[in-house]
Amino acid sequence: MESFRRFSSLAFIALLASFAFLASAELHVREFVIQPKPVKRLCRTHESITVNGQFPGPTLEVRNGDSLAITVINRARYNISLHWHGIRQLRNPWADGPEYITQCPIRPGQSYTYRFTIEDQEGTLWWHAHSRWLRATVYGALIIYPRLGSPYPFHMPKRDIPILLGEWRDRNPMDVLRQAQFTGAAANVSDAYTINGQPGDLYRCSRSETVRFPIFPGETVQLRVINAGLNQELFFSVANHQLTVVETDSAYTKPFTTSVIMIGPGQTTNVLLTANQRPGRYYMAARAYNSANAPFDNTTTTAILEYVNAPTRRGRGRGQIAPVFPVLPGFNDTATATAFSNRLRYWKRAPVPLQVDENLFFTVGLGLINCSNPNSPRCQGPNGTRFAASINNQSFVLPRRNSIMQAYYQGMPGIFTTDFPPVPPVQFDYTGNVSRGLWQPVKGTKTYKLKYKANVQIVLQDTSIVTPENHPMHLHGYQFYVVGSGFGNFNPRTDPARFNLFDPPERNTIGTPPGGWVAIRFVADNPGAWIMHCHIDSHLGWGLAMVFLVENGRGQLQSVQAPPLDLPRC
Ligand code: C2O
Repeated sequence: MESFRRFSSLAFIALLASFAFLASAELHVREFVIQPKPVKRLCRTHESITVNGQFPGPTLEVRNGDSLAITVINRARYNISLHWHGIRQLRNPWADGPEYITQCPIRPGQSYTYRFTIEDQEGTLWWHAHSRWLRATVYGALIIYPRLGSPYPFHMPKRDIPILLGEWRDRNPMDVLRQAQFTGAAANVSDAYTINGQPGDLYRCSRSETVRFPIFPGETVQLRVINAGLNQELFFSVANHQLTVVETDSAYTKPFTTSVIMIGPGQTTNVLLTANQRPGRYYMAARAYNSANAPFDNTTTTAILEYVNAPTRRGRGRGQIAPVFPVLPGFNDTATATAFSNRLRYWKRAPVPLQVDENLFFTVGLGLINCSNPNSPRCQGPNGTRFAASINNQSFVLPRRNSIMQAYYQGMPGIFTTDFPPVPPVQFDYTGNVSRGLWQPVKGTKTYKLKYKANVQIVLQDTSIVTPENHPMHLHGYQFYVVGSGFGNFNPRTDPARFNLFDPPERNTIGTPPGGWVAIRFVADNPGAWIMHCHIDSHLGWGLAMVFLVENGRGQLQSVQAPPLDLPRC
């Protein structure tokens, strides 16, 4: 009797706890209307594609365990789809968003509701359009707080500031893309970088709109830095203030302090900043880290960190004092970029797969397609060619008649093949002087099959074809561990011995060192079609992508869910 009573009260407590748990998970129902809206930057107004007329788009704030139902209504003249960058979308590729990979785009006048649940993720992520270059203006922050009562592994400041770094073009980005697609040449670089949508003091017609962040002396804030730019890796720094890195791509890190961070397109980095300097005004600034031998936007975006007790100037020329400018690394300072990346460590011991079932070696880089008529207006790339990019010499082409995931689920043939090569078709000195005969990739829509729960290692090897470059490689549906990296060619005999299998950083986007390699590991525990691609949109358009088809495991809990009824059709 006594033991029964004890049992029942325990069961009662457990029941209460599970109710509390259920009660704390929320459903966030939102409407995202894709619509043109006049946006004035750099002295001129453009009809920018926005969400709900906002640029940058709305910030989503949710908790781990919450669900979202976001109805996207397309009132623009372009096809569109939205991607929730970094959300794992377990067994639910239908909500992932990349057009022609997991869904057909939402046509003008149509809508689609993205329904998904945050499962065991917390930190800074973001969302963006995943259709051609629409993400130039269609993006926003996606912030996931821990479950109620679940602690941070560091002292979390009261104030939290999203810092969205972007690129601005003084033209319709879709026209810039269309022109590049026609000529085969590289697209024009951006005209400005932005912080929360504003270029800042160093650009024409921008000063009055520069973003200002008031701060109390002694206060610590968390900056959630997101690189939402289309094509450029950036250095970011705040004058006179140190930054303590605590998280990258929604994974906590061992905290470390630095004066500058490097952040590639697609990546997020949380830093703590303490207002421990003289009361004053300080610029936060971002400008290019340019690892390639290619034109780039060499301008600098700024916002102002303003101590609330900053002194003002008296007498003539009254007003606010000029902000202090930070020291930024040189544009091609690969040493600083590498030193920064090499300091990242997972916050605790990481459950890295120790055995590898799938050992993949992928060359990533640019290429050139030869033209039969090099004088053609369509062949304005170097020496009458068209730019291309590839993984293992395969230049990825999106299907048109259906998405890969829908074709896979329905068993529809003719949309893709499953023969993506696990190693390059020919071995060569990838980072040396590559013979011209190896510069031309092959176009196709190839996928690579992975068994459910396979332990996967991928070595991403940059090539020097056209130019060595930092390629921010992003894998959908997964977080992976970055177990090693280096310059030159990966050496399979000596390099694995130096892998960090203890506390490697966990990410969803990692840059290849220019002229080097990076090794990642993950467990293929999420069935579906998942694209891996360079997050530089120029390179993605040129074909720097491939798709993993992760097979179902056993039973419903290891299999892709049924598609939602409103999933767009092609
Ligand atoms: Cu953030 Cu496939 O993208």
